[in-house]
Amino acid sequence: MCGIVGYIGHREAYPIIIKGLQRLEYRGYDSAGIALYDGTNIKLSKTKGKVSDLKEKIENEISTKGTLGIGHTRWATHGVPNDVNSHPHTSNSGDLVIIHNGIIENYDSLKQELIKRGYTFQSDTDTEVLINLIEDVKKNENLKLGKAVQVALNQVVGAYAIAVFDKNKPNEIVVAKLGSPLAIGVGDDEFFIASDASPFIEYTKNAIYLEDEEMAIIRRGKDIKVRKIQNDNLVDPYVQKLQLNLEQIEKGGYEHFMLKEIYEQPSAILDTFRGRLLSNEAIIKMVGVEDNMKKFLAADRIIIVACGTSWHAGLVAEYIFEDLARIPVEVEYASEFRYRNPVITEKDVVIAISQSGETADTLAAIKLAKSKGAFVFGVCNVVGSTIARETNAGAYTHAGPEIGVASTKAFTTQITVLTLIALRLARAKGTMSSSEFRQHLIELEMIPAKVEEALKSDAYVKTIADIYKDSKNFLYLGRGFNFPVALEGALKLKEISYIHAEGYPAAEMKHGPIALIDEQMPVVVIATKKGHYEKVVSNIQEIKSRKGRIIGIVTKGDTSVKELADYVIEVPETLECLTPLLTTIPLQLLSYHIAVMLNKNVDQPRNLAKSVTVE
Ligand code: G6P
Repeated sequence: MCGIVGYIGHREAYPIIIKGLQRLEYRGYDSAGIALYDGTNIKLSKTKGKVSDLKEKIENEISTKGTLGIGHTRWATHGVPNDVNSHPHTSNSGDLVIIHNGIIENYDSLKQELIKRGYTFQSDTDTEVLINLIEDVKKNENLKLGKAVQVALNQVVGAYAIAVFDKNKPNEIVVAKLGSPLAIGVGDDEFFIASDASPFIEYTKNAIYLEDEEMAIIRRGKDIKVRKIQNDNLVDPYVQKLQLNLEQIEKGGYEHFMLKEIYEQPSAILDTFRGRLLSNEAIIKMVGVEDNMKKFLAADRIIIVACGTSWHAGLVAEYIFEDLARIPVEVEYASEFRYRNPVITEKDVVIAISQSGETADTLAAIKLAKSKGAFVFGVCNVVGSTIARETNAGAYTHAGPEIGVASTKAFTTQITVLTLIALRLARAKGTMSSSEFRQHLIELEMIPAKVEEALKSDAYVKTIADIYKDSKNFLYLGRGFNFPVALEGALKLKEISYIHAEGYPAAEMKHGPIALIDEQMPVVVIATKKGHYEKVVSNIQEIKSRKGRIIGIVTKGDTSVKELADYVIEVPETLECLTPLLTTIPLQLLSYHIAVMLNKNVDQPRNLAKSVTVE
């Protein structure tokens, strides 16, 4: 996820763009840049770091004059965050400039073609490939900018929201969208471009939200021309009257970042397997795994190290790796692992999971494992983070920035990446037949739509939250793949509502927690079909006979649990190993609504930090 801003009109562009980028920093903040057209030339300034670093740099470095400009705040996907990889990017001639939010999946093959034609590249980005492709098309076919953008985009596979201008035609900006958001603010002889309307809300309330596969040519003094990228058909743009305030826009209309991030999970999971899960070809492509396949296949065991929610994702992965790829897995709290003189050998593969990529204990565990000769693989969300750099190889989740302190979309995208790795290894080891493998790919591909469906229980979950919000304790139970989900559900509730909650393997209940059960105790039980369903139903009966209040998380259409439980929340059916991606959703919503009803600071709970860089 990145943020883009552009302006063409009668005002100075720089103040609008820099302020707009600050408002879009929730979309990414590892580097930023601006290109301004000053009437003669393009002035470019970019830097690794936050928009405030860019502001300081730009105001010392270049003249900020100009009424045309584009800017970008980055959340890296291709190439580490550094000055060179920051946007905007220019074409080889220096005439064309681009900003891009998204991922060009086939950038490597396009790049090889362009290199053969004499193009050179300074950055590692997919975006620099795109702007040179546009230049190549424009020159070879002698096209206007808009047409060149259109022809180039028809060769591209991936997702994008782009804005491009040509210094030789400084009265127009061309924009296009597929998969990433793009809003156009329509003013009086001026236009604004942005990932959402927050950068231009004080200038105009008129906005056009481009649909997927649409592009627009924006010219001063002219009407906006919107057309389909694929077939050239003109589209009549719908100009909306914005009624939102600034805060609402930054949070996409949601009350809190946490809720927004819960709702982003279908697209975050999709972004995470985009370009990796190719179900038609029945393959999984993961460069970090492919390049180190020998190490994975020779491993005696996999040790997973992580903290907090990432540790819970590691526990889910333990079940998945052992079940699908038949590789022994141990999951360790990084803080315990690093201090307990663990037995590690060169035949171990260590997987470190971290949303932020900065957690001090996880980093120390990695260093220890490396010093003993183990191969260390990272699963991080923040590109170019310390852990991403310290590990021998890795695979990013593509969740985009997670702002809410309580982790939500990072958890489900971590599980997605780890499932992809397990499946890839299972295939390489021959522990799955090709038809089983294909079935898993197809089911995994359906998960974003099923998460969407699970989110529809939101209003119902809210009514349950209202009933139990004043409880002093909660118990969460699950078995097998869903035992870690019970732990994660309890953690979410603790973190943001400050209600005491415990997660337990359902069968362990009778060895202790059952003593706590009375009519005051809500027990959230994950009881999806398959797996140990009958056994969980027996556990529910045990709770019921002690008058516990039962909230069941069940497979759609379930009847047995419904008869016993006080409330049931349904999730769609899927393969057992993929159920954590769905059962997690109502638990996130339950803790969110309880915390809101108790007037807690959901996005910044007391005493907690998003990234724990101290021991
Ligand atoms: C903190 C955060 C948690 C997170 C944990 C591990 O405690 O509040 O949400 O799960 O750190 O962070 P990491 O960035 O390594 O996943």
